[in-house]
Amino acid sequence: MIDTRQNPRTFHVKSFGCQMNVYDGERMAELLAGQGLSEVGADTADLVVLNTCHIREKAAEKVYSDIGRLAKREDAEGNRIARPMIAVAGCVAQAEGGEIPRRAPQVDIVVGPQAYHRLPAMVADAAAGKRALDTDMPAASKFGALPDRARRRSPGAFLTVQEGCDKFCTYCVVPYTRGAEISRPWSAIVDEARALVDGGAREITLLGQNVNAWEGEDEKGQRQGLDGLIRALDRIEGLARIRYTTSHPNDMREGLIRAHAEVEKLMPFLHLPVQSGSDRILKAMNRSHDAASYRAVIARVRAARPDIALSGDFIVGFPGETDAEFEETLALVSEARYAQAYSFKYSPRAGTPAATMADQIAPAVMDERLQRLQAAINADQHAFNQATVGRHTSVLLERKGKLPGQLIGKSPWLQSVHVVDPTAAIGDLVEVEIARAGPNSLSAVLFGRQAA
Ligand code: 5AD
Ligand code: SF4
Repeated sequence: MIDTRQNPRTFHVKSFGCQMNVYDGERMAELLAGQGLSEVGADTADLVVLNTCHIREKAAEKVYSDIGRLAKREDAEGNRIARPMIAVAGCVAQAEGGEIPRRAPQVDIVVGPQAYHRLPAMVADAAAGKRALDTDMPAASKFGALPDRARRRSPGAFLTVQEGCDKFCTYCVVPYTRGAEISRPWSAIVDEARALVDGGAREITLLGQNVNAWEGEDEKGQRQGLDGLIRALDRIEGLARIRYTTSHPNDMREGLIRAHAEVEKLMPFLHLPVQSGSDRILKAMNRSHDAASYRAVIARVRAARPDIALSGDFIVGFPGETDAEFEETLALVSEARYAQAYSFKYSPRAGTPAATMADQIAPAVMDERLQRLQAAINADQHAFNQATVGRHTSVLLERKGKLPGQLIGKSPWLQSVHVVDPTAAIGDLVEVEIARAGPNSLSAVLFGRQAA
């Protein structure tokens, strides 16, 4: 347990994995700041929260190397300093629970993604020398127990509107770590969006494992889907851009597709994972859609919003995947023309049905398939970026770049755009002409500014 036994005065939250973890990490930071703790770097913090990801083995193992490093912390002169109080949060905490302190006795707190509103009490327990563990998935949501949103440092904000997943893809731990699909209530989301905008946010990304399955009742008691929520956010003055992620192909309903044609603040970007181009593999993955229905969804979205930037997720080397089945994935990629996409080697996760399937694929085969897939995706991404050269568009400036005077922001299509202009500042939504495109980023010149 912790050496000092004192109440921590400073903290650091390190988030791994998906954007929902980034959101949870921010909420934990706001919670701890509300208790009077100040946020500092991981090297000096009295309390370090590792907000973990369990999606693939590599991600899950990172936490143990981080714990080891924290336990052997040194100051600038190389002297050993007291280790911090260590809290493991997120999906590894949920999946491994009490196993974590058995493997890493330096861990003082284990808190799951649905229980982190109780973090202050757990810190008090740990300070009193008691190890604290909470991986409950309580019926009442944590959201009501969290403090109001703090002022923003960046103009882009995440807002979790839906959590959990009922889809049970056979490779995936999410239904076990994040629990059943739950939509947050309409008014809680609209209030939080307003608070984010009051705090300086100009872009909000609505988050959920199956965000497009969000449903609820508006203030008049009418059933609404995600498109209704987007239209409500569209009415918030001062908010300039709306995004949402991640969507499931089966939940891509007509209203949401129409919103892409009609709602100006809704950005032309869609992250729509497909995982494989082979119907046999999609079936074994329990994806509940096939390659043809995925193609049909993209065609409908493109008809509504022809310039949409499409993104996706792929898994190569799912158990039993043949060369021919992998070729079907490449064929789908070449047709879909992704603006960007993520691809992963299949990683068996204990407790999921695929982990015990026959015909697990050899690592060398997976490596080769991943390389080929990534080469195809990168080429499409470069082509997409090239096609935006010369376009006049908007960029929301989010952070400083490496060069003097350089600022980096996002285009409507979620590309990173660099500008160098002494009149521009972080948080500005500027009008630019795209000047050059590389595989991963663009550069642009400013020619205007939109009213705040
Ligand atoms: N192995 C590899 N990739 C996975 N993903 C989910 N589970 C696994 C796994 N066991 C990928 C999927 C998903 C993304 C978030 O992570 O592509 O869409
Ligand atoms: Fe995992 Fe499938 Fe649910 Fe996505 S839809 S979170 S891949 S189970």
